[in-house]
Amino acid sequence: MLTPSLKADFPILSEKVNGKPLVYLDNAATTQKPIAVLDASRRYYEKINSNIHRGTHHLAREATAAHEHARETITKYINASSPDEVIFTSGCTDGINLVSNILSLSSGDEILISALEHHSNIVPWQMLAQRSGALLRVIPCDDHGVLDQTAFQQLLSTKTKILAITWVSNAFGTVNPVREMTFAAKKFGTTVLIDAAQAIPHLEVDVQALGADFVVFSGHKVYAPTGIGVLWGRKSLLEVLPPWRGGGEMIKEVTFEKTTYNDLPFKYEAGTPNIEGAIALAAAFDYVHGIGLAEIQAHEETLIHQAAAALSEIPGIHLYGPADRIGAISFAIEGVHHYDLGTLIDQMGIAVRTGHHCCQPLMARFGITGTTRASFALYNTTEDIESLANALTKAATMLR
Ligand code: ALA
Repeated sequence: MLTPSLKADFPILSEKVNGKPLVYLDNAATTQKPIAVLDASRRYYEKINSNIHRGTHHLAREATAAHEHARETITKYINASSPDEVIFTSGCTDGINLVSNILSLSSGDEILISALEHHSNIVPWQMLAQRSGALLRVIPCDDHGVLDQTAFQQLLSTKTKILAITWVSNAFGTVNPVREMTFAAKKFGTTVLIDAAQAIPHLEVDVQALGADFVVFSGHKVYAPTGIGVLWGRKSLLEVLPPWRGGGEMIKEVTFEKTTYNDLPFKYEAGTPNIEGAIALAAAFDYVHGIGLAEIQAHEETLIHQAAAALSEIPGIHLYGPADRIGAISFAIEGVHHYDLGTLIDQMGIAVRTGHHCCQPLMARFGITGTTRASFALYNTTEDIESLANALTKAATMLR
């Protein structure tokens, strides 16, 4: 366990909600921000706010240097082979939309996703399938929310042009064997995208070790602000693929007849980027790696086991997902609607997410409209789990 608790690094965690101390367990939706990140954002606006890559003046140079330094910091932590492979986006959804718009498919090609995907890793591929006449195929999961690897192997063929899978399920916390799945898909020449949105706060992300072509994540899941994310792409691919959005920054030369495009990574960064967001994201990575991902992982693993044990004591509870879940625990209590449960425990100061978690097809697979989900971060404590279990017991009694 991380002791002492790191809550003091996160000012919002000392807020009261409905007159009760806040117990924040909605980290899979977004994480809170440490002082180090808040300071980085504030410093940017107080000291160097300016547009980047454009001006000759002092502030423009400072802001450009800080932005590109942030890119280098992220390059180092995700083990990209070059900063040219680190494209700043507004988040995971933006990254997946970018990739699904630069890959071109033909009728009869197949895109393979999984039953565990968030809508952001379904809809962009559906749109690509509609545009191209390609077929969207889905790897099923079992009753524990674990992907059926035999079915996956059977679905793979030379027609599989794209495999897009989540590393960690945001709804159930299932961890997919993405490295092995990538390896299997590569035998068929498939282009692989990994959605690392829920992996980035909990696991060491080494893009080269994964062997995929694209890895996407959002900053706000890893203690950085909203509106910033990263698309890592293999340089040899990004160099030959077309740009997506057109505008300033992504160009070398523009005439009314023709435009030549900028080098990587700028070719994929049209318009003024989220400069402060990139700088704050690097600060968040420094913060997380300063604590150590192995320590964070061990701490969160303890918490999630404690949560599973405590919640299992509640009469009529059903836990979704496998026992070796990461980051989130999803559940339903018999005779109690998840919305009522979430609303009632909010009155007790406890923040969880209820509903379909942007995974309607997964909910349909289990014949439910939603669950209640508690999700954890490095600042959560055993006391938070006790508060959650006590609140759920009380709320379930009141609602039944
Ligand atoms: N994808 C986020 C969640 O699971 C919003 O809550």
